[in-house]
Amino acid sequence: MLRGKHIVIGVTGGIAAYKAVYLLRHLQEEGAEVRVTMTPAATRFVGVETFAALTRHEVPIRIFPDPTDSISDNWTRHIQWAEWADMIVVAPCTANSLAKIVHGLSDSMLMATILAARCPVLVCPTMDGEMYQAPATRANLQQAKELGFHLMEPESGYLASGLHGPGRLPEPEVITGQIRSLLESAEQHAEKSPEASPKLLQGKRILVTCGATREFLDPVRFLSNPSTGKMGMAMADAAASFGAEVTLLHADSVDTSRLPGSIELIPFTTSDDLFNHVRSRADADVIIMTAAVSDFRPVQRHKQKVKKESAKLELPLEQTPDILQWLGDRRSGRPGEQVLVGFAMETEDLAGRAREKRIRKGVDWMVGNDLSDDNSGFAVDTNSVLLIGPHSENRFKGTKVDVARGVLQHIFVS
Ligand code: C5P
Repeated sequence: MLRGKHIVIGVTGGIAAYKAVYLLRHLQEEGAEVRVTMTPAATRFVGVETFAALTRHEVPIRIFPDPTDSISDNWTRHIQWAEWADMIVVAPCTANSLAKIVHGLSDSMLMATILAARCPVLVCPTMDGEMYQAPATRANLQQAKELGFHLMEPESGYLASGLHGPGRLPEPEVITGQIRSLLESAEQHAEKSPEASPKLLQGKRILVTCGATREFLDPVRFLSNPSTGKMGMAMADAAASFGAEVTLLHADSVDTSRLPGSIELIPFTTSDDLFNHVRSRADADVIIMTAAVSDFRPVQRHKQKVKKESAKLELPLEQTPDILQWLGDRRSGRPGEQVLVGFAMETEDLAGRAREKRIRKGVDWMVGNDLSDDNSGFAVDTNSVLLIGPHSENRFKGTKVDVARGVLQHIFVS
C-alpha cells in the first residue's frame, strides 16, 4: 500500500498522457497523496483542469509563478516539490523529455523538480515508431540508468501511428506495482543509510586506497590483477557520507567519475607510487587499504619494449613493499591512535587466513573477501565479506555500498 506516500507524476507531451489520469486514480486509491506537473506539450493532450480537479492541487507547468500569483515563495516551488516527494514518476516520458532529464535541463517545472530531487525517479519512456530504437534514445536510456534513474520498459503493441512495436505506456496497475517496490527498497535502504548517522566520522581524516597496481616489465607490459576499485570507492563514499574528510588513492585505471566532489582524489600506477603517497599521508586517523597491491614485480623494468626475439621465457620477480605491513609496524606500540583496516582476498580458508593476516600485519580490522562466492570479489557490484576484529567476527553481504556502510558502522559504533 502507498498510504501517506507523496508522489509527483510528471506528464509529458505524448499520446499516452491520458493514461496518467488512470495512474493518478490508482495511486490515490492505494492511499498516496499525488501532485501532478505537466510539460507545456502535455497540455495539448490532457487539460490542466483534469489533473487539478483530481489532485485538488495546482498543476504547475512553468518554473516561474504566474504574474497574478501573490505567493512569493512560488519562485522556489520546484525545490519545495522535490523535497515533498517520496517518488517522482514521469509517465509518459517522451524522447524529448528523456533527453532533457539525462542532460539536466530545467526548462519546465517538471525538469527543475527532477533536477532538485533526492527521491527515486521512475521514468516510463513511451514513443512511437522507431523513436525508441533510435541510437540517440538508446544512448539516453543507457545514460539515464547510469545516472541512477529507474526505467520502466515500454510495452510492445499497437501504437497511435498504426505501427506495431515497443513504445506503449504500461498499464497503470503495472506502474503502480513498480512504484510500490521501488518505495519499499528505498525504505529498506534508508534504514541502513548514512543519513541515519551522518556525523559518525565527522572530524576524522580517512585515507582509502583502491584498484590494482601495475608493475611494469617494459613500457607496454605489466603485471596486474582484475580489481576495478569498486569496493574501495564504496568505502570512500560511505566514509564521506558519514562526515569524514576522505582522500582516495586510486589506481589510474579506476573510473572515479561518480564519487562525490568532496573526496580528494589522487591517482597512482605502481605499488611504489602508492607507497610514496601512503607514506606522505601516514598520519591519517584511519587508513583503509582496499587496493589490490601486487605482491610481486619484475626485477628489471626495461626502458624500451622487450623484443620478442630477445626475450628470455622467464621473468625474474621480486616482492613489492608490503604497505599495510609497514603501516602496522610503524604504529606498533601506539595502538588506539590510528585505525588500520586491511582487505584479504582469499580463495580458500578465508577466516583462518584473514585472522592470521590481521595479526601478522599488525592491523585492527581485516575484511576477508570471499572469492568462492559468485556474487563477491572483482568487478561485481555486490560483495560478501567477513570482518575480523580484535574481539568479533561479523559477516556482511549485499551491494558493495551496503557492505561498506555496514563495515564502517560496525568498526566505529562498536
Ligand atoms: O598479503 P595480502 O596481499 O593478502 O594482503 C592484503 C592487504 O594488504 C590489503 O589490504 C592490501 O591493500 C595490502 N597490501 C599492501 N602491500 C602489498 C600487498 C598487499 O599494502 N604489497
